[in-house]
Amino acid sequence: MKNTTKICCIGAGYVGGPTMSVIANQCPEIQVTVVDINENRINQWNDEDLDNLPVYEPGLKEIIATTRNKNLFFSTEVDKAIEEADIIFISVNTPTKTYGKGKGQAADLKYIELCARNIAKVAKTDKIVVEKSTLPVRTAGAIKSILENTGNGVNFEILSNPEFLAEGTAVDDLMNADRVLIGGDDTPSGQRAKDTLSAIYEHWLPKERILQTNVWSSELSKLVANAFLAQRVSSINSISALCERTDANVAEVSRAIGYDSRIGSKFLNSSVGFGGSCFQKDILNLVYIARSFGLQEVADYWEQVIIMNDYQKRRFAENIISTLYNTVSGKKIVFYGWAFKKDTNDTRESAAIYVADALLEERAEIVVYDPKVSEKTIYADLDYLNTRSPEENRRLLKVVKEPIKATEDAHAIAILTEWDEFKTYDWDKIHNNMLKPAFVFDGRRILDSETMKAKGFEFYKIGQS
Ligand code: UDX
Ligand code: UDX
Repeated sequence: MKNTTKICCIGAGYVGGPTMSVIANQCPEIQVTVVDINENRINQWNDEDLDNLPVYEPGLKEIIATTRNKNLFFSTEVDKAIEEADIIFISVNTPTKTYGKGKGQAADLKYIELCARNIAKVAKTDKIVVEKSTLPVRTAGAIKSILENTGNGVNFEILSNPEFLAEGTAVDDLMNADRVLIGGDDTPSGQRAKDTLSAIYEHWLPKERILQTNVWSSELSKLVANAFLAQRVSSINSISALCERTDANVAEVSRAIGYDSRIGSKFLNSSVGFGGSCFQKDILNLVYIARSFGLQEVADYWEQVIIMNDYQKRRFAENIISTLYNTVSGKKIVFYGWAFKKDTNDTRESAAIYVADALLEERAEIVVYDPKVSEKTIYADLDYLNTRSPEENRRLLKVVKEPIKATEDAHAIAILTEWDEFKTYDWDKIHNNMLKPAFVFDGRRILDSETMKAKGFEFYKIGQS
């Protein structure tokens, strides 16, 4: 195969956008084109003003500034980009099915299938097709079959190259990846394809960190990595509930067990519950796959991680209600944060959505402030749940841009995202603004209990009695 010069990525989202930007930045001789059917999104990626990029990630706009329109292009011309490319990444969304068989658990692969059919239709030369989207095991097989049966007789090699970047640290995760996984066939042409993709990452990563496997191991590893990470959060969250009933402090427990080098310190921060586009979706996928192979116990085991996470969100909302004298009806509750974690504007599966929904059911009046999430997104998240009408959501919940002013006459503040700026606020002023007793519920454990109590707050923190 000739030296790779052109890459196309279908899907300009949180994964495709940052990943391709970093590849373009690290491989100046490669031309990278990111395409998307969503014209609005592409326009945002091409916006002169780099603060309008559709994805917020620290360090991303600097990379875009140096690569865009040099060797990095954003376009809606999907077919043209496919035709020209040697390597095509598929990075479209794979939401959990909302209908039919596997509803609520299985991944909806219709976008992947559409992409595969489109590639088959358009391709006139041999291509390496890389699945970047998180997919249930054996999807590569489906892509392969579509490509081989509908293509124009050209040769396709299918690789699985799952993404391990975390939002908020995407650029750094890509630049300093712990490992890159490349799954492909063990045939001579499969091996060549794996080496071709590996060569791209070798521009900036040591070869030992690029692991080659078979396709199915690679696909499954992605689901398993997320399941293990989520399991740690659910494990420590289960202990947070116990700590609240006893004199143990979950931070001390995390620290004590994290020092055991066999356990390690990461992913032991107790929180109001994990969110994000991947954890829940990937675990549900694992559960669905296990169940479809008749492995009931395996499915139940992993499903419990999700059950624990739902419990943690519910518990946080119920604590607010019971603490506010068993009624939040008509009470103003300020939400600090809506994103599923700090340093991202992504809100998919964010705990804030579910906590808000539970409080709105009790007729609370919620005021939301998040430094990066738009009003439109917040309402869309709530409307999506379909618990009440869009009008009702807009009547009961307001989105504001001034976090301190928002606390005037508020009964309580709930911290749902760990944005750094919340720590630096003038909490004395906030206390003055609020109705008394002034309640603060820290779902992210970012504020110090003693300091907050000294300022006069009724302060509640996940995992502390
Ligand atoms: C998604 C998946 O959620 C994740 O599992 C996978 O690992 C990578 O892709 P993300 O990039 O965060 O993650 O999704 P999203 O931000 O929704 O981006 C997907 C993009 O694909 C959207 O912009 C969408 O318009 C585009 N798309 C979708 C296409 O261009 N063509 C399609 O047929 C479908
Ligand atoms: C995750 C994986 O980390 C990444 O490798 C994969 O590619 C995609 O899914 P992401 O969803 O971006 O990344 O965020 P992550 O940092 O893993 O956090 C997920 C959720 O867990 C967040 O809501 C976060 O607040 C929560 N979390 C994380 C905790 O509650 N406690 C912790 O100790 C760590």
